[in-house]
Amino acid sequence: MPTDDFIVTPWHVEGEIDYDKLIKQFGTEKISKQLLQRIEKLTGESHFMLRRGIFFSHRDLGRILDDYEKGKKFFLYTGRGPSGHTHIGHLVPWVFAKWLQEKFDVNMYFQLTDDEKFYSKQNMTLEETRLFANENALDFIVLGFKPENTKIIIDTKNIKTLYPIAAQVAKKINFSNTKAVFGFTNETNAGMIFYTALQSAPCFLEDKPVLIPLGVDQDPHFRITRDVAPKIGKIKPALIHNIMIPSLEGPRGKMSASEETTTIYTTDSPEVVKKKVNKYAFSGGQPDIEEHRKKGGNPDIDVSYQYLRIFFEPDDAKLKKIYDDYKSGKMLSGELKAILIEKINQFLKVHQEKREKARDKLDKYLLED
Ligand code: TRP
Repeated sequence: MPTDDFIVTPWHVEGEIDYDKLIKQFGTEKISKQLLQRIEKLTGESHFMLRRGIFFSHRDLGRILDDYEKGKKFFLYTGRGPSGHTHIGHLVPWVFAKWLQEKFDVNMYFQLTDDEKFYSKQNMTLEETRLFANENALDFIVLGFKPENTKIIIDTKNIKTLYPIAAQVAKKINFSNTKAVFGFTNETNAGMIFYTALQSAPCFLEDKPVLIPLGVDQDPHFRITRDVAPKIGKIKPALIHNIMIPSLEGPRGKMSASEETTTIYTTDSPEVVKKKVNKYAFSGGQPDIEEHRKKGGNPDIDVSYQYLRIFFEPDDAKLKKIYDDYKSGKMLSGELKAILIEKINQFLKVHQEKREKARDKLDKYLLED
């Protein structure tokens, strides 16, 4: 790892990430203006997450579009490690995946890696990760996915389908590969060492190219998958990466599902959301009102503003007004927080209602081996 002051791996994210540097470090490509225009032309729409650079990088996205233009469809795949309840940062790639699915009319697979979180979390039992897999699945399906073209994979449940593919992949990965990519040591458990093969398996469920919307921290797994693909006669998976969603306490590091006070869960009540945002959301404002009115706030480091930009305020004109008012000092931190709290609670009210109703429907989405 180069001597940057940030670290991005699937199990550990730390420091203030310089995304241009990360693109170089990982060897991915920035999403160019031309690529954005192509997507807009094909979908007839500009998605705010693309426009605002929330999705900022890719591998082989151009090839997916080339094929699509020639009439060759792809399929979508993404996933979640069920280490706890879903938090709002997780919804970013899922909401975007839903949009892609609708616009391109393609199948979607969602992998819940109960095994991975059992391997990687000291204190979690397989029963617990399996339970959260079910809970997380609810958050996913209520975003509007339909059982006709969306299948949910739970690793320990669907191992019969996954294992023959994972075995093909695993045979082409050796210990020095994974060690180099993930920094594994002799103390790393064997489950972790094998795990990349399982996360790779859904890429090859259909005999079509796959496009994976994902947090950029997951890229290292698929770097391995992409190396292996041609060796087992398969097409390399294409990726589209989103930035890490900051934790409430600031832009340093991503929101982590295991830290109560720095994370907003989809299951939080309106009171809890209000308290968390007011108490913990890192502010770009000045220490007192007088100074704030004079100097203005800094929206670029303000977490409440960032959540609006990343997820909760798709309207560019409204977002710009908030940006300008906050920066000029016209809007105070408390007022900005109040806007975010209102937005989150509006969203969660509907989400939580749908979530409870979805419990009975879950079976229809689960992949049958
Ligand atoms: N490892 C991912 C996590 O911890 C879960 C996952 C499985 C995933 N398959 C994926 C994420 C495909 C993105 C794309 O969250």
